[in-house]
Amino acid sequence: MPAGPVDFEAISREFRFGGDFVDARPIPAGHINDTYLVRVRAPSRTAEFVLQRINTIVFRDPDRLMENIVRITEHVAAKVAAAPASDGRREILRLIPTREGRSFLRDSEGRVWRAYNSVGRTRTVDVVEGIEQARKAAWAFGRFQEMLADLPEPRLHETIPHFHDTPHRFAAFLSVVETDSQSRAAHATEEIEFAVAREEMAGLLTTALTEGRIPERVTHNDTKINNVLFDTSTGEPVCVIDLDITMAGAAAYDFGDLVRTSTSRGAEDERDLRKVRFQLDLFEAVAAGFLDAARQFLTPAEVDSLVVVGKLITFETGLRFLTDFLEGDVYFKTARPTHNLDRARTQFELVRQLEDREEQLARVVERYRREPTR
Ligand SMILES: Nc1ncnc2c1ncn2[C@@H]1O[C@H](COP(=O)(O)OP(=O)(O)O)[C@@H](O)[C@H]1O
Ligand SMILES: [Mg+2]
Repeated sequence: MPAGPVDFEAISREFRFGGDFVDARPIPAGHINDTYLVRVRAPSRTAEFVLQRINTIVFRDPDRLMENIVRITEHVAAKVAAAPASDGRREILRLIPTREGRSFLRDSEGRVWRAYNSVGRTRTVDVVEGIEQARKAAWAFGRFQEMLADLPEPRLHETIPHFHDTPHRFAAFLSVVETDSQSRAAHATEEIEFAVAREEMAGLLTTALTEGRIPERVTHNDTKINNVLFDTSTGEPVCVIDLDITMAGAAAYDFGDLVRTSTSRGAEDERDLRKVRFQLDLFEAVAAGFLDAARQFLTPAEVDSLVVVGKLITFETGLRFLTDFLEGDVYFKTARPTHNLDRARTQFELVRQLEDREEQLARVVERYRREPTR
């Protein structure tokens, strides 16, 4: 990809920001795109926008990606505009079009840019700070699914093919073990055994989807807590962001990733596995929050699937880390030689704990299947 210094003033001129460029500051956060906060001076005030450079190595087809995002944001915007009590301007991202009326800009160096309104008076957190916050984040993602449950045809484009296709991930893993191009398999024998012993788990949801036992929904697919903007003063969730891999999937996928990222406080790459500790109270919060927003549209079979999807998505993520370790760290950024192996270990440790607790998880899901928490 061609690199060169970025002329933010020139790029900003190409978007309908309605004022003169003041400055652009990087927002340090994501691992995928580069994000900047741009200030412009309009006649009566200073306005802020979020400018993102799309990672075109991960997202090779920006046209299709942005077509999805236009449909998603417009659908939700129309809904919140119709809801009487809502502050529609803050509840959904709004794309700022280019001067030519397009949803993104390709600059003279081939870089791809898009701009959103900046949702003011909000903050993000990287690690769950408490039980209430876990519940609110889960509610926000459940509500996001609810608002998109009636998105008209056609199906959204698959921006990353086979993203939650666990059997596909499993097959890729087996083939990497077979090749062992980096001669690393000998360092991961226990983890490989752990995964191989769970081959059956991989098909848990894909089979139900193909057989029509659970319906296809629009799912966010990256339900980490740092993809929710919380109101700075009230702490309430305002807006779900990071819509690049929002596409067709099982409703439970988003819940599974919430379980994976919000029910244990240990870091994803923690080396001391004693720190990976599943907390039932956090699981309860996530189940309560998600179901409060989603229970009215989920089918009984979808609610049932929430019991096992945490271990499934955690297993799938562990498989991806292990596969990348065996392949020589080609996908995930690493800071040490066994970084991906360490990550695979934390995921598999959590899988183990979730497997042991399945009856408890089922009781929690049963409790919140019908009962609102507020
Ligand atoms: N519309 C917005 N308003 C305010 N802050 C935003 C907005 N969009 C993104 N951000 C900030 O930028 C960060 C990165 O954005 P995100 O879209 O999640 O990128 P990535 O894909 O790299 O995670 C977020 O964590 C949030 O702090
Ligand atoms: Mg993000």
